[in-house]
Amino acid sequence: MPQAIHPMLALPDHDEAARQNFVFSLRKLVVHHAKAGSREIYEGRVLPKFRRENGRAPKTRHEIRKSMLRDTYGQYVSALRLMTQELMWDSVGESVERQLPNLNANAKIQSKSGGTIQLDPKLKIPRYLTGVDIHGMPGSYQTDITEDDVYAGALYDRSAYIRGTGSTGGLNQDFGQSIGEYIIEKFPDLNPRRILDIGCSVGHSTLPYCDLFPDADIFAIDVAAPMLRYAHARAEALGKTVAFSQQNAEATDFPDGYFDLVLGHAILHETSTKAMDRILAEGHRLLAPGGICLHFEGPPWNRISLFDAATHDWDTHFNHEPFIGKMHEVDPVEMVTQAGFKKSKMIDTYVPSAFAKTGKVNFVGTTGSKAGGAYWVFGARK
Ligand SMILES: C[S@@+](CC[C@H](N)C(=O)[O-])C[C@H]1O[C@@H](n2cnc3c(N)ncnc32)[C@H](O)[C@@H]1O
Repeated sequence: MPQAIHPMLALPDHDEAARQNFVFSLRKLVVHHAKAGSREIYEGRVLPKFRRENGRAPKTRHEIRKSMLRDTYGQYVSALRLMTQELMWDSVGESVERQLPNLNANAKIQSKSGGTIQLDPKLKIPRYLTGVDIHGMPGSYQTDITEDDVYAGALYDRSAYIRGTGSTGGLNQDFGQSIGEYIIEKFPDLNPRRILDIGCSVGHSTLPYCDLFPDADIFAIDVAAPMLRYAHARAEALGKTVAFSQQNAEATDFPDGYFDLVLGHAILHETSTKAMDRILAEGHRLLAPGGICLHFEGPPWNRISLFDAATHDWDTHFNHEPFIGKMHEVDPVEMVTQAGFKKSKMIDTYVPSAFAKTGKVNFVGTTGSKAGGAYWVFGARK
């Protein structure tokens, strides 16, 4: 499925397209072949060697990671993963930079749909975002390179499609679409009046809720201004009404009980352990009685094999994702109950991918996915 074109998307010229297509194919190679090959190498070569040397099997994901990195194939896969990620930012970045004046101009639109954007230049960006260029993204989410710019948003929109090799849909919408469909099916009584998407980035997961819940008002927050400027312009271009605002999900300015649904798609693993607890507690505060808070993330390490944990935890050590390791060590029950929810109201499940269900998309998996195409979500009903 090609990426859906809209007026905010940075379209590559001939040479840029050639480079981006190369990265897209390389990424497929990494996901489908190199990672699968790693398992074979692990079972056939690395594990037997580890047993010979230690008289036992590895006990931790760290032992597996380190053993794999002593093997030439493990080194090759690690280098390939890193290079693919860097080439992705490079090939999309040059294309976005070339088009930036136009993209910035396109973003200064008058809302036709009633969508809004509210920025807060005084908002302090948390250190867990400023201290690292997260997943190698130059400048991370929050860096403006021109005035009122959309660079980070444009970079992220195209790169997310390449990184997912199109498996989350033409508008990168599968997380939101799948979780929204799950909520409708499992909680038909909910009828949310207001929905909040936290850490919305450019709104990939936000927009499906506009169509799935046409009677609800949709709100979305992020700390990063360039992502929000882009998200607002993209939503307007796609005819969706969203109230975007620049806020920290740890402490927002919405009143108590304002929302019936508070959602986070892949935000927690990019924050600190303390921030995660605060974000969940804030979700609890923001919910009306009967409301639902849900987070999509990769499942805890103790629910997947040590080998899979080692493969995913590679990002912690090499892909500038310093919090992934810790995030997957936490106990979801403890997190949810500490935030104020009752254990009996906890939600902890795998949500089938809406696209995998149609059979039209070759589901390659994400950090939160499981074979067959499903996303791990956890949270609770208030
Ligand atoms: C991986 S992206 C999320 C992707 C997006 N939810 C989606 O499904 O496409 C993480 C986003 O969370 C934002 N973020 C991180 N910490 C935050 C916080 N404390 N409050 C609000 N946004 C935050 C980042 O700026 C970034 O845009």
